[in-house]
Amino acid sequence: MKLIRELGCKGCHMIYGKGGSSATDLTEVGSRLTAAQIEEFLSADPATRTKDFMPSYSSLTKAERQLISECLYNLH
Ligand code: HEC
Repeated sequence: MKLIRELGCKGCHMIYGKGGSSATDLTEVGSRLTAAQIEEFLSADPATRTKDFMPSYSSLTKAERQLISECLYNLH
């Protein structure tokens, strides 16, 4: 959760009722996507996205993205 806070995900995403409302609520993201899909989403090149609003986190290490993904996946 620390990384998620530092990276400002909640500036756009709601988690447990706190955060921005310009993007999807991530509290339940684990019921929609697998940890692997979340990790893939975070590492995607923005140019390959259909809805290109979210900043790319491809500059994070794979380990960091996996940590975030596991964390989000286990929230629900
Ligand atoms: C500038 C606003 C912004 C920030 C900051 C942001 N996001 Fe997003 N995020 C979005 C938007 C908008 C979408 C939906 C559109 C898209 O596909 O890009 C999205 C989509 C997602 C999805 C897919 C959700 C789904 O249900 O399909 C995940 C997972 C996600 N974000 C995780 C994160 C994480 C983790 C962080 C922090 C490391 C983060 N976001 C930071 C705006 C943001």
